[in-house]
Amino acid sequence: MWKPRIIVQNGRSIPFDEARIHPLSVGTAYGIGVFEGLRAYYNAATGRLSVFRLEEHLTRLEQGMKIMRFDDPPSREVLREGVLRVVRENEPDDDAYIRLQVHIEALGMMATTGPVGWVAGAMPRERSPKFRTGLSVGVSSWTRIADDAMPPRVKATANYHAARLATLQAKADGYDTAILLTQQGKVSEAPSACLFIVRNGRLITPARSSDILESVTRDTVLVLADELGIPVREETVDRTELYVADEMFLCGTGQELVPVTQVDRLPVGNGQPGPLTMRLQAAYEAVVRGTTDAHPEWRTPVT
Ligand SMILES: Cc1ncc(COP(=O)(O)O)c(C=O)c1O
Repeated sequence: MWKPRIIVQNGRSIPFDEARIHPLSVGTAYGIGVFEGLRAYYNAATGRLSVFRLEEHLTRLEQGMKIMRFDDPPSREVLREGVLRVVRENEPDDDAYIRLQVHIEALGMMATTGPVGWVAGAMPRERSPKFRTGLSVGVSSWTRIADDAMPPRVKATANYHAARLATLQAKADGYDTAILLTQQGKVSEAPSACLFIVRNGRLITPARSSDILESVTRDTVLVLADELGIPVREETVDRTELYVADEMFLCGTGQELVPVTQVDRLPVGNGQPGPLTMRLQAAYEAVVRGTTDAHPEWRTPVT
């Protein structure tokens, strides 16, 4: 497996191990940073890598920097080039997972808004071992952060505390991962993935107001489902709807599209990955890797 050699920090390509930030910088001391996790997929026919939905990730990052009131944030052009450059310069011979992070580099107080710094890194990331067989998930007693406290819409580095606690608890309890409910007790999402269920042939996903991250993959699934003629609804989802769902899956850039076959130790449907889930998984794989001609606008070639 390939290894990361180069990281781009504040526009400079440097050896991966030499990236530095002061431990007392506001980004580290208070977790004041926003980031994106992206993937570049290798297409064997063309021998090329393409970054999936780069523009949508940059848009979400810009929205996060605006909400966080960063001073003089790096431009979209600079960040786009940083992402493409870090993939290009690492010369991966396979898929790459990319982290793009913008943080307050200054030493200062909690409300310091700049100067900001940024890094783009690329590394290999294996596919979930449960990609074909399905995950066992447990509904957590930790709840999802809320828009009036730590806006989940912002992909902020500090936003992962509850998700981490839920993940650790889920693993201690023998699950692969957790599902978090909102403060109102409705289904929100998994620690780093959005959730879909299938009921009576209809795909359902918690609405944007269910304290989800506005996931790029969730949007991709909504578009693909529509194109496959699968009816979709974004709405409030109850915990017990998970128990009576015919199918369930999680989706996110890192996790991709993974079936869920057990929830709170109850089988989902017949306990096997469902047919609509696997159809969508195949459609997702084709569109991210570019083995279909559909949606070329979603793939930015690394040249
Ligand atoms: C909390 C959270 N929810 C959902 C997702 C999925 O988002 P995306 O599809 O944009 O990767 C992520 C991605 O890492 C995440 O961190």
